[in-house]
Amino acid sequence: MERTLIYNIHQLLGVTDNDSPQNLNPLAGKNLRNLKVLEDAWLEITDGLISDFGVLEDLNKEQLNRANKVIDAQRGVLGPSWCDSHTHLVFAQPREEEFVMRILGKSYEEIAAAGGGILNSAKKVQQAAEELLLESAYRRLNEIMAMGTGAVEIKSGYGLTPESELKMLRVIRSLKDKAPIPIKSTFLGAHAIPAEYKSSPEAYVDLVIEKMLPEVADQGLADYIDVFCDRGFFTPQQTDRILEAGLKRGLKAKIHANELDYSGGVQVGVKHHAVSVDHLECTGEDEIQSLLNGSTIPTLLPQTAFFLNIEYPPARKIIDAGLPVALASDYNPGSSPSGNMFFTVALACIHMKMLPEEAINAATINGAHAMEIQDIAGSIQKGRAANFWLTEPISSYNFLPYSFGRTPLKSIFINGNTFSTI
Ligand code: NIG
Ligand code: FE
Repeated sequence: MERTLIYNIHQLLGVTDNDSPQNLNPLAGKNLRNLKVLEDAWLEITDGLISDFGVLEDLNKEQLNRANKVIDAQRGVLGPSWCDSHTHLVFAQPREEEFVMRILGKSYEEIAAAGGGILNSAKKVQQAAEELLLESAYRRLNEIMAMGTGAVEIKSGYGLTPESELKMLRVIRSLKDKAPIPIKSTFLGAHAIPAEYKSSPEAYVDLVIEKMLPEVADQGLADYIDVFCDRGFFTPQQTDRILEAGLKRGLKAKIHANELDYSGGVQVGVKHHAVSVDHLECTGEDEIQSLLNGSTIPTLLPQTAFFLNIEYPPARKIIDAGLPVALASDYNPGSSPSGNMFFTVALACIHMKMLPEEAINAATINGAHAMEIQDIAGSIQKGRAANFWLTEPISSYNFLPYSFGRTPLKSIFINGNTFSTI
């Protein structure tokens, strides 16, 4: 038996047990700030799983003696690995040229309408060899794991042809096979309307439903279906058709909604019992009311608002209405070229007025709910995989969002092993 004991932990975050309510439902409203923290703690790992933890005064000699390895945490903070429930980390090339165009005054929508944006990424993915896509995506996966992510959802959506969408989804399947962490795969054929369908968008929706979806479902390549339901992309009616077809094929929805406008995306997602509706920069009373009537998780992506310089989603209004919130990075080449969840959490605190406790819960256990893996990830619980991050000595967990951009990590544990990208 391999036993590791980590002691001298200043704060052990996100502790749960079998009966914790957050294992059943995402933390919502006032409960979102219920982050269980053990001060001056220790944690034991046995064969890759969390086997026990507690406060230092209860640590007995026997526990110390039976460990093969003892690690002094030197008063660092230990938290459950981030559960990043929305990314697009399979792509062929970055898009710095559009970044510069935006600095010079063009908007994200203008660039997209001129054939840039998602269509630009699609052209490059269509031309890219599958092995090269896998190689670069695997590098990005390692990069986010090194920043504390321990579960991730990854979308297709830069293929936009049957062959290339399947190619992307096969890359995600290979990532699932290679990676030591849980990965969920989402089919996003309806990410943008390809130029050749500009005058007949319904024909593209037909292609997604009649050609792509059956193959994706038959080959078991996706866990979820997604649509970019927004101004200039897909209408609520088109989204409705796609989500209905997805459900018939056994794919629940996780959709992009209300990033650019009050698009009706939230309502259509709730109507189809989407696991989550993501973005929500444009959220008013109607959207909040609709969310209150369902169990769909509002997922906020503050890095996108930061990078595109648009309004942040009204997190406070959403939480204060009694709803849950999940936080994700949206790692993608166009609107959020970073998968650093420490930065996501910092932005949530700084720009969306979320308390550190709320942001940490939203990026861990609620993110796990947004991928339906809440029973295996998102908290420190006996019997779960030993997936967590440990910081340098810091004064409290509040220091993490406060010292934005710094990511003061000392080590990362995945299945009980220290993770290194080298
Ligand atoms: O989540 N909003 C739609 N899709 C992505 C951006 C895609 C891109 O610009 O490449 C997002 O922001
Ligand atoms: Fe996205």
